[in-house]
Amino acid sequence: MGDRNIDALLSEQRRYPPPPEFADANAGPGFYEQDPDAFWEREGRERVDWFTPFSTLREWTPPYAKWYLGGKLNACYNCVDRHVEAGAGDKVAFHWEGEPVGDRLAVTYADLQRRVVRFANTLKKIGVGRGTNVAIYLGMVPDLPVAMLACARLGAPHTVVFGGFSADSLASRINDMGCQVLITQDASWRRGRPLPLKPVADEAMTNAPGVRRCLVVRRTEVDTPMTAGRDLWYHEASAHVDDDAANCPCEPMDAEDPLFLMYTSGTTAKPKGIVHTTGGYLVGVATTHHYVFDIKQSTVYWCAADIGWITGHSYIVYGPLCNGVTSVLYEGTPDFPDKDRWWDIVERYGVTVLYTAPTAIRTHMKWGPEFARRHDLSSIRLLGSVGEPINPEAWVWYRTHIGGGRAPVVDTWWQTETGMILISPLPGVSTLKPGSAGRPFIGVTPSVVDDHGYPVTPGEGGFLVLREPWPAMLRGIHGDPSRYLATYWSRFPGDYLVGDGARVDDDGDYWLLGRIDDVMNVSGHRISTVEVESALVDDPTVAEAAVCARPDELTGQAIVAYVTLKGGRDGSRQAVATLRQHVAEKIGRLAMPANIVFTPELPKTRSGKIMRRLLRDIAEEGTLGDTTTLADPSVVEEIRTRAAAAA
Ligand code: WTA
Repeated sequence: MGDRNIDALLSEQRRYPPPPEFADANAGPGFYEQDPDAFWEREGRERVDWFTPFSTLREWTPPYAKWYLGGKLNACYNCVDRHVEAGAGDKVAFHWEGEPVGDRLAVTYADLQRRVVRFANTLKKIGVGRGTNVAIYLGMVPDLPVAMLACARLGAPHTVVFGGFSADSLASRINDMGCQVLITQDASWRRGRPLPLKPVADEAMTNAPGVRRCLVVRRTEVDTPMTAGRDLWYHEASAHVDDDAANCPCEPMDAEDPLFLMYTSGTTAKPKGIVHTTGGYLVGVATTHHYVFDIKQSTVYWCAADIGWITGHSYIVYGPLCNGVTSVLYEGTPDFPDKDRWWDIVERYGVTVLYTAPTAIRTHMKWGPEFARRHDLSSIRLLGSVGEPINPEAWVWYRTHIGGGRAPVVDTWWQTETGMILISPLPGVSTLKPGSAGRPFIGVTPSVVDDHGYPVTPGEGGFLVLREPWPAMLRGIHGDPSRYLATYWSRFPGDYLVGDGARVDDDGDYWLLGRIDDVMNVSGHRISTVEVESALVDDPTVAEAAVCARPDELTGQAIVAYVTLKGGRDGSRQAVATLRQHVAEKIGRLAMPANIVFTPELPKTRSGKIMRRLLRDIAEEGTLGDTTTLADPSVVEEIRTRAAAAA
C-alpha cells in the first residue's frame, strides 16, 4: 500500500501538544464538537458576502453535490472590493518579491482593486464577459492573481496553466475548455535568466485555433514575437482603461456557477479538467484557511507554492484574499541568488505563517540549516506542509530550524479535486505527530477500506475514501461525466475514491501512505504514468514504454521509464537525452524521467499485459513479487541488470 513504510510510521512516538501561544486560536477546544451542518451554514453566512443570501445549505445527489443553493455572490468582490469598502484599502494585500534582487512591490487592497478593475475592463474590450473561457499562462507576477480576479469579476471561468508546462499541454487545456482568450507574458525570470513564455504560447495557439486574442504582459526586455490582429501588449491595451470600481461592477454569480477549471493528471494520458464553482469553493477555502492557519488581523502569510497549481488557487489567491490577509508572493527559485533567499524574505516581511511542500523542506535540509541561521526567523508562528506525505525527519527539521523549535507544523492533506484542505491538525487543538495529517476537518467523513470496501481495523493500511460532500468538492470533470463516475465513484459505489492509501491510528489520526493508482507525485506535482508513457511512444524510435516511480530522497518520487526501441536497438546515452527532451516538449520538464532503462522486451503476462508492479519493484530495488504468470521470466533478470546500470 503506497510507498511509505508503515512500520516506521507506526513507531513514530514524538508528540507535540498545542503551545500556550495558541490558547486563543481561532479553533479552540470544542471545535470538533460542532454540528457540521450548523457550522457550514454559519460559515457560509459570515465568511463571505452574498448579493442574494442562499436558501438551502446543500443538496446531495451522489455523486453530485451543490452548496449554498440560491445564493448569489462574486468571488472578486469578496476577495477585493469588500475589504476596500470596509476601510482596509491601505492594508497590504501582497508583498510581491520579484526574482531579481530589489525588484519589489507592495500591493494594497486599494491598489489591487484598481489593478483588477483595469484588467477586467481591458478584458471587456476584447469581448470577455460572463461565460467566456479564459486561459492564463503566467509566471508568479502580480498580474497573475489580478487576471484571475478580473475573470472572476466578469464571471469568466479561468484555467491557469503552470508556466512549466509545454506548448502541447497548454494547447490541450485550451482546446478542452474552449478558451477564446489567452493571457501570457513575454518571459519569466528563472535563476537570473529570462525564460520565454510567449513563444511557447505561440506554438500552443497554432494548435488551438479557438483563441481569438492573446494578451501579453511585459515582464522582461526580451524580444517577443507578436501576431497582428491576435496579440496585444497588456500595457498598451490597458493604457487608457478606466480603473474606477464604480464603473465595473462585479457580476452576481450563482453559487453553483463555475469559477475555474484546474487540470490535473489522472490515470489516462488526458488530464482532467476539475470543475470548481463559486459559493462552496470560496466558503470552503476561506474557512479552512482561517482555522488551519489561525489567521489574525496581523498575520503575514506566505504560501510558497506556484499559483499554477490548486494550492496556489486556494491558499495564495482565493482563501487568503477572501480573508483580507497580507501575503507574500515570490516570483523565483529558492536558491537565487543564494540558498537563503526564502529566509531573507521571511525576515524582511516578518512572515508569521509559512506553507510549503515536503520536497522544498528536504531541499533546504540538504543545503543545511546555516542558510536559515543567517536570518532572524522569530516572526514565524506556524508552519504548514502540503503536496505529499511528509517524512518525520523533514517534519522535525522544519519545526526545529525554521520554526525555532516552537512553531506547530500542520500537515494538510487535500487534492485538486477536494479544492480545500480536508484532513489537517488545528494548531490550537491538536497534539501533533510528525508524519500524520491529523483529523478530518468539520463535516469531512473519510474512511479507510479494504479491497472489498469494508473498513479496516485501526492501524491497518487501506484505500482512503470520502463519504459526505464538502463545500469545495469538485463538481465533476469538464465535458466528461462518465469519466467522473469511472474515476471516483465506480470502485466503491457511494464513496469517493481518493487514490491515496491511508491508515488511522487509535486516536483517530490519519497517516497518508501515498498514491495507490498510476499517478506519481514528483516534487509535489501530480504526473500520470500513462501520460509519460504516451509521450515516450510518441517518439518515432520508441516501440514500447512503461513508466513507474521510485522513491527519491529529495523529490519524494522520481520517474523511471522502461523503453523498448524499435528494431530491438540498444539505447545510447544520446537516446536518453533525446527521449527526456521529448517528454519535456510533450508535457513539460517536470515530467522528465530521472532514469531511462532500455530493454529488448518489457515483462508481460501471458495475456500480454505489462507487469507494472514488477517494474516498480525493480525500480524500488525491493523484493520481486510473484513472477510465475510472466511469459518470459528471463526478461526480469535482464531488466534488473540494465536498471542497475542506468541508475
Ligand atoms: C498528495 C495538492 C500526503 C496525495 C493539494 C493527493 C498528500 C495528491 C498531502 C493531490 C499530504 C497532498 N500528505 N499526501 N499532506 N497533500 N498529497 O491534486 O497523494 O496536486 O492525492 O493537490 O497529493 O495532489 P494535488
